[in-house]
Amino acid sequence: MLDPIQKFNLWWQQAQADSPLQQKSAVCVSTVDKDGMPDGRFVDLKAVESRGFIFCTNLDAPKSVAIQHNPNTAMTIWWDHLGYQVRVKGIAQLVEDELANAYWQSRSRDAQISTLALQQSAEMVDEQSMFDQVNHLTRERGNAIIPRPANWGGYCIHPAKIEFLTFKTSRLHLRELYVRQGEGWRYQLLQP
Ligand SMILES: Cc1cc2nc3c(=O)[nH]c(=O)nc-3n(C[C@H](O)[C@H](O)[C@H](O)COP(=O)(O)O)c2cc1C
Repeated sequence: MLDPIQKFNLWWQQAQADSPLQQKSAVCVSTVDKDGMPDGRFVDLKAVESRGFIFCTNLDAPKSVAIQHNPNTAMTIWWDHLGYQVRVKGIAQLVEDELANAYWQSRSRDAQISTLALQQSAEMVDEQSMFDQVNHLTRERGNAIIPRPANWGGYCIHPAKIEFLTFKTSRLHLRELYVRQGEGWRYQLLQP
């Protein structure tokens, strides 16, 4: 039996190679807020490691506040061109500073500046004020190296369950579920 992380990597490589999408690594991450309300949004999947699925974000944005309160997190993907859906359920945990630093350094300077200049998901007066803030900071920082701010980092979703669905036009989809069991995985099929 293929390890589900290896299987995910195979599907992801295939999805990226054949993708008609501009944002080839977009995945929907769902969280539950302190009032028990679910919320989902797309993020860029940075990496898949044996421990789980890594994305980066502002640590004071609503998704991060929700995770800090309740780490139960889901990740959902639909690759239309392959007919593949993946669903992950697990626990999100902050990644180590060294890894967050490496992802920060891999970001474009524009992305670094906008993270610094703006407060993700806070109310915005108008678009022009956003451009002004970003331009002001761009001038102020010049060419100086921008260190990772304390409110930006990465989360790893440590999976408890991973389900792979192969879509069939007959609706007799193949659904393969992997459930974490100790160091290994239990494999079962689910009715479509
Ligand atoms: C294709 C795509 C990729 C995105 N990637 C990220 C990302 O990697 N990190 C991030 O914080 N927001 C990303 N966003 C923006 C989020 O969808 C969301 O608007 C933002 O993170 C605020 O979410 P929150 O208010 O739930 O915290 C992306 C949006 C799209 C459409």
